[in-house]
Amino acid sequence: EEEEEENQSEETKILISSLPWEIDYLGNKLFMFQGYWYYEDVLKSIPNIHSSFQSQETDIIVASFYKSGTTWLKALTFALVQRSKHSLEDHHHPLLSHNPHEIVPYLELNLYLNSSKPDLTKFISSSSSSSPRLFSTHMSLDALKLPLKKSPCKVVYVCRNVKDVLVSLWCFLNANKGVEWGDFSQNEKIIRAENYSFKAIFESFCNGVTLHGPFWDHALSYWRGSLEDPKHFLFMRYEELKAEPRTQVKRLAEFLDCPFTKEEEDNGSVDKILELCSLSNLSSLEINKTGSLGGVDYETYFRKGQVGDWKSYMTSEMVNKIDMIVEEKLKGSGLKF
Ligand code: A3P
Repeated sequence: EEEEEENQSEETKILISSLPWEIDYLGNKLFMFQGYWYYEDVLKSIPNIHSSFQSQETDIIVASFYKSGTTWLKALTFALVQRSKHSLEDHHHPLLSHNPHEIVPYLELNLYLNSSKPDLTKFISSSSSSSPRLFSTHMSLDALKLPLKKSPCKVVYVCRNVKDVLVSLWCFLNANKGVEWGDFSQNEKIIRAENYSFKAIFESFCNGVTLHGPFWDHALSYWRGSLEDPKHFLFMRYEELKAEPRTQVKRLAEFLDCPFTKEEEDNGSVDKILELCSLSNLSSLEINKTGSLGGVDYETYFRKGQVGDWKSYMTSEMVNKIDMIVEEKLKGSGLKF
């Protein structure tokens, strides 16, 4: 087995050395693989996921481009599907003592980064005693399709306006100065984040050269998935969750085959879930005020949560430029953001 793993990692190394690459706004090397950009570490997890992740029909994957509302969707999904096990009134509800990222692990970061046999019991929601199992990913659906082919599970994607995503990312990076992004494997210290230029991040997004980018292709992969197979892929939007949270959470519950009963609707369960997972509640919890994971302080996952915050950061030239690119990239797809 070990030999097999070594062979695989050797093959991956050879593959990586043949890929086109670019330097991103952090000074970090991004490799283009099957249409998307990855850091080397993340790229190495893909063969592990493809060869070893065995999805079960009951699994749920929370998918997103980073800074699109991942933390919120992880919390909502966990609270929803575990509400019979963890009562929403329970003072020991896991979401009160754990950051949502501690509960729902990323396939490519927390589980399969350096291993094809991760310890799934390390995370509350991925261990086999949890049913359904919950995972998350920032990978595009194009990269995820293969491992899901044999046993399709449910995938929920949250999409957010790209302008708010890039503003949110810039703020997040600035709040986490000193974190060595891309250094997930501990053995290749390539970058040290010090100077985050908003203009540089903006240009990277426009060019599509960002981790897991191009952003539009990422969103389109899940958009198309949701049109082709709505039973397995749900396309949600951060903006809709903000504007009509009750409707959207009920939609999510229905998709996940755990709709609210009449009794639950009458006793305010929908609002209880929304309150538990709200930005104000989560960010006020001790764990989220003081905890951290991988050098990232949990408090930096919670900022304003505003729709349209980009208006305070972008010049009109920037807005025009990115709006034109978006229009061009999404043309004919039916997707708008
Ligand atoms: P802003 O930086 O615009 O405030 P991700 O979870 O994918 O990293 O996305 C982070 C964004 O989601 C941040 O946006 C953050 O404030 C917002 N967010 C985090 N938790 C939230 C919650 N419970 N409800 C609404 N928005 C939330």
